[in-house]
Amino acid sequence: MHDESELTYGGYLGLQDLLSLQKPRSAPPCHDELQFIIVHQTFELWFKQMLHEVDAIAAHLATDRVLEAERLFRRLRAIVRCFIPALEVIETMVPSDFLAFRDLLKPASGFQSFQFRELEFACGLRDERYVRIFEKDPGVVDRLRARLRQPALWDIVVTHLKRRGFRIATESEQRAAIVAIYRDERQYELRALCEAMIAFDEDFALYRQHHLKMAERMIGRKAGTGEKVAAYALGQAGPMGTHGVEYLQSTLDKRFFPVLWAARTEM
Ligand code: HEM
Repeated sequence: MHDESELTYGGYLGLQDLLSLQKPRSAPPCHDELQFIIVHQTFELWFKQMLHEVDAIAAHLATDRVLEAERLFRRLRAIVRCFIPALEVIETMVPSDFLAFRDLLKPASGFQSFQFRELEFACGLRDERYVRIFEKDPGVVDRLRARLRQPALWDIVVTHLKRRGFRIATESEQRAAIVAIYRDERQYELRALCEAMIAFDEDFALYRQHHLKMAERMIGRKAGTGEKVAAYALGQAGPMGTHGVEYLQSTLDKRFFPVLWAARTEM
């Protein structure tokens, strides 16, 4: 007999709900809008997973489980490496087909991805001006502010190094500690951790570049759909007051773990 309460694949994954969440705005529907929505939703699911891993990494480091933290940094990197092929799916769309529904998306923009911003905050990029973008959504503001109250991943690593006897009070001491770790084979666990961290950071930077190139390929130098939001939240002055591809260009040098990069020069 069929047991009504028996678990099914669709029930476990909530497929009925999941598959009802793609709601194109174009009418009659533009063929490409569905993939546009699905690619974005996929990213947001991965961002959710990444935040979950970030929290687990923090807990592992707080209890000195370095290799577990290292393994999860490798997972973060593996997720980021899914991003570039995902953008390739978008790039199978020609600009004119995108433009057929792009105006319907204004003023929404990936710029308003609160999970992306939370991930940046968790990884150490803490520009609080981004919180203002969400002021109409107090739940999101609370969430971002809560994240800002927590130590960033690098701070957690540094606290761990301090417990292990390294001098880390200044940035130059932190660089020296990293150089010492790389030179000492007995520190293989910490070296593996640092390598997993920089590999994640490197691939995230490559994703930023690919997203920029993809955006330029799609919209050239047109203003981004989030132009008004960006101008409102970040002001007109300075590199972040720009918009569209120009704004994305200004984000390319962002690094989550700048000390790890700087230590390279001193090795
Ligand atoms: C046709 C495809 C896309 C175009 C043309 C595009 C374009 C842009 C532009 C111009 C910006 C700068 C803000 C603005 O002016 O609105 C931006 C920001 C952003 N986009 Fe996209 N994007 C596309 C697809 C995606 C996808 C698939 C994602 C995945 C989630 C994404 C995530 C983001 C994020 C997170 C930002 C903020 C970046 C930051 O502040 O550093 N975008 N996008």
